[in-house]
Amino acid sequence: MKKVKWIALLLVVAMMACMFAGCGGAADGKRIIRIGHNQATTHPTHIGLTAFAEFINEELGDKYQVEVYPSELLGSQNEMVQLTQTGAIDIVIASNAIMETFSSNYSIFNLPYLFSSAEAYHAAMEDPEVTDPIFLATEDAGFVCVTWLDAGTRNFYTVDKPINSPADLKGLKIRVQQSATNVKMMELLGGTATPMGFGDVYTALQSQIINGAENNELALTSNGHGDVCKYYSYDMHQMVPDLVLCNWAFLEGLSEEERAIFDEGFQIINTVQREAWETAVEEAKEQALNEQGVNFLYPDTAPFQEAVMPLHEEILAASPELQPIYDMIQEYNAQYSSAE
Ligand code: GCU
Repeated sequence: MKKVKWIALLLVVAMMACMFAGCGGAADGKRIIRIGHNQATTHPTHIGLTAFAEFINEELGDKYQVEVYPSELLGSQNEMVQLTQTGAIDIVIASNAIMETFSSNYSIFNLPYLFSSAEAYHAAMEDPEVTDPIFLATEDAGFVCVTWLDAGTRNFYTVDKPINSPADLKGLKIRVQQSATNVKMMELLGGTATPMGFGDVYTALQSQIINGAENNELALTSNGHGDVCKYYSYDMHQMVPDLVLCNWAFLEGLSEEERAIFDEGFQIINTVQREAWETAVEEAKEQALNEQGVNFLYPDTAPFQEAVMPLHEEILAASPELQPIYDMIQEYNAQYSSAE
């Protein structure tokens, strides 16, 4: 990890030096568009971004060159969002979870059990009336969200203790994303929240600084957490989207024609990533089960849900402007209620 951080630091320093020297583009005069994310190159997110890079390089390759930096090469998600704010990098993929610190509007998508089914989640995320007030809320902060990506359902997994009910979380240190809502969620469930960046989780699990974490199935395989954690429990507590965040000044600087092409490109990231996601989850589950020896548990989700529901009221009371969005989501929930 240390080596990766050093590489990131060197890269950032080189990029900054380049910016101060006024050389924003490649040697051949092209404007380089840097995209940073924290997943491996086999992850659906990288596959979606690669399709975007190919599309832009093909359509606008005389002027732009897209470069995708995976695996936290440009820093942690938090660091990369800040770099996107300043324009040191142009695009970052960040979990909605860490966006609360930039605008409280984002907290709504961090609510546990916000969506009644994957279908309701997808329909809401595809509705600009739901997402625009949130995705555009950070314009003044220097960036906006141009599309969302699927990050599945988040569930608890632990090194050696099966989680069948919230009571089983008591006394356990569980890594959560760096978000106040997530910390409160863990408190309500009775576990001890340990917020940290994604890149630090594997080592923390291995050294048992934490007893477990919570994430989608790909964290078991793509990030190796299933080598250490042998119980994955489908309590289904969150569907938190990943967001494609783009520096606002960069978008504003595009001509109308270029912007239309970029918008088409953003849609390509969404479509390609989400299609790859479907099969990736199935493959991850199979690999975790057969190669890593992970046990999958299917507890009654009702006690988990009951424990965290007060958070809905708390967030809406703190940000009443989110109420209409929350109500629209409830309509999707009614329309696509869980098949159970
Ligand atoms: C998922 C998500 C990432 C996020 C990570 C985390 O993998 O796709 O964007 O960083 O969870 O738990 O931090």
